[in-house]
Amino acid sequence: MRIDILTLFPSMFDGVFSESIIKRAIDNKLVDINIYNFRDYSKDPHHSVDDTPYGGGAGMVLTCQPIFDAVNDLKKDNSKVILLTPSGVTYKQKLAYDLSKEKHLIIICGHYEGFDERIRTIVDLEISIGDYVLTGGEIASCVLVDSITRLIPGVINEESHINDSFNDNYLLDYPTYTKPADYNGLKVPDILLSGDHKKIDKWRYQKSIEKTKELRPDLLEKDGDNYEVCNKEEK
Ligand code: ADE
Repeated sequence: MRIDILTLFPSMFDGVFSESIIKRAIDNKLVDINIYNFRDYSKDPHHSVDDTPYGGGAGMVLTCQPIFDAVNDLKKDNSKVILLTPSGVTYKQKLAYDLSKEKHLIIICGHYEGFDERIRTIVDLEISIGDYVLTGGEIASCVLVDSITRLIPGVINEESHINDSFNDNYLLDYPTYTKPADYNGLKVPDILLSGDHKKIDKWRYQKSIEKTKELRPDLLEKDGDNYEVCNKEEK
């Protein structure tokens, strides 16, 4: 998979993609991540990328030209263009799975007070990583890239994510323990020491349900996925 990120702050990505599993995925050529400064696409003599809003108001608004040109330059037939914005569809694990099957993602990081509304016309999907406002889409795009990359076949052992929270019926992950079996009186449940894997699987499933009921009852009440209605291709 190829992922192109359009940002005004390329150095924000320096550390994030050069460590741990993402770095290994890049080294193993399972994902190709490219960072573009869309200021480089600006035709303005001062390389400006924003302007004051029509109708007045505070702050500066990202202009169409640099982002339109950057997307035009990078876009192929199989590209999916994503805009990160607090008004996008809320990001969920199911969407991470769907996006991990794409060949090419172009991720636009918004910034400042907002972007010219016409930028939405060149976007396939608008995503928010949660109901709060970040200073820009850079951190949100790291969340996307991390959650998508780990799902690309070969990046991590598939068993590691098959039991992920939010996969099956939106259940949270079951509790896990490691050695010692007794830590200052805090004991590992006997069943996990029994060696009976059928019983262990049943216990884990039961615990997943209990944990979800206790911590995230909302996940059991509704499927929690609203992205389809906002995915222009699915409409
Ligand atoms: N940009 C600013 N806030 C954001 C959010 N919550 N999700 C995605 N992009 C954003």
